[in-house]
Amino acid sequence: MRKPFIAANWKMNNTVPEAIRFVTALTSDLKAISGVDVVIAPPFTALYSAGVALADTEFYLSSQNLFWEDSGAYTGEISGPFLADVGCRYAIVGHSERRQLFSETDETVNRRLKAALRNNLVPIMCVGETLAEREANQTWDVIRRQLDGGLSGIDLAALADFVIAYEPVWAIGTGKTATSGQAQEVHGLIRRYIADKFGSAVADKTRIIYGGSVKPSNSRELLSNPDIDGALVGGASLDPKQFAAIVRSAH
Ligand code: PGA
Repeated sequence: MRKPFIAANWKMNNTVPEAIRFVTALTSDLKAISGVDVVIAPPFTALYSAGVALADTEFYLSSQNLFWEDSGAYTGEISGPFLADVGCRYAIVGHSERRQLFSETDETVNRRLKAALRNNLVPIMCVGETLAEREANQTWDVIRRQLDGGLSGIDLAALADFVIAYEPVWAIGTGKTATSGQAQEVHGLIRRYIADKFGSAVADKTRIIYGGSVKPSNSRELLSNPDIDGALVGGASLDPKQFAAIVRSAH
């Protein structure tokens, strides 16, 4: 049985005081929740203080990205050892905004995934197609290419934990959610891909989460699908009440 996984991707939102306020509100609201992995991914500047606020809770901290080298002359970058140092357990890698706005490729995603694993951070690897790709019936070709390239040289069978987020680009921040059927179809294909490549035991335990306009009104239905194990929540994760409602719907 896979434990549901609900992550808040705050993107470029929330200052330090806002992050602390959010975490305090959320943890007191969800004090009694169990059986769900709840993850908060603040911007780099709020990681430390959010981590301190999460210290005595069951919730986890994640970064939104990381650089592939561990240290050195890379002005402006943040690496795995720094993220582990502030208490991150997870690292989002290859989010579509990074791919589209910051020229990330499957090759740089692969380097970042390896850097996360080398530093004992569990990756949340994002994949997903654009609207044009979906309309040209290329959805699975694109996702398979992202998985092939991103996972090159990485053996999921050797890892205790690894999370894949399917996020159709056309559903991110647009209010358009993939239908439950569209999402389940791709999740099922991703799970079959993992089974073919790494074996069915690995496919059975790998959590594949959905992202793209998840909100309290649609999360329960999305999460009721057999291959949808959680959600990566952007917009609705900025309101502790809405995010808490999504966590509860996974319970
Ligand atoms: P959204 O973002 O929930 O605002 O669509 C999801 C994401 O980008 O992870």
